[in-house]
Amino acid sequence: MNAQTLLLSLLVLHLTGLVIMAGTTFVDFTIFKTFWKQFDLDQGKSQGILQATSKSSRWIGIGAALLVLTGVGMMAITHGAFGEQTWFRIKFALVVILVLNGILVGRRLGTKLRKTMTDGGGNISLQISSIRTNLNLFFFAQLFLLLMVVFLSVFKFN
Ligand code: HEM
Repeated sequence: MNAQTLLLSLLVLHLTGLVIMAGTTFVDFTIFKTFWKQFDLDQGKSQGILQATSKSSRWIGIGAALLVLTGVGMMAITHGAFGEQTWFRIKFALVVILVLNGILVGRRLGTKLRKTMTDGGGNISLQISSIRTNLNLFFFAQLFLLLMVVFLSVFKFN
């Protein structure tokens, strides 16, 4: 396999990682929207909806790992040529923020929400109202960052 074919194969896997990560994040966002709607109507029934997101963090992790591994592979094949370029430096910083936001903010909020729903006791609505606001902000941030990363990767501004 020559270097050009290898680079294109890695790019295909890179885009597969993007589809898995961004797709799962977007579907999660829509499931959470359905959850909040149902929560306002019937708290008891809403819990089942949350179950639909239980495997999401694994898929997002798989997508992110595929993106990083293939990204590093493409950098190796091109001998780090992209590393000198402005678009790549900004992209890399955004990817770091994206991953940290996912692990430190998103995962924590998801766990907190599930915990409050199962053993929150009395007034759950009051307890989860801040989680609701923060989760919405989290999803907007992740989807916006993903869009910016794709934008930079495609236009490759210098
Ligand atoms: C959320 C994370 C990421 C997303 C959404 C993403 C997205 C993309 C997209 C859409 C392209 C295709 C551009 C095109 O061919 O027009 C691309 C290319 C590229 N990505 Fe990523 N990427 C991510 C992470 C990374 C990481 C972590 C690295 C490196 C460590 C990396 C390195 C590269 C390189 C070198 C290319 C250029 C390949 C080429 O044009 O030959 N990416 N990325």
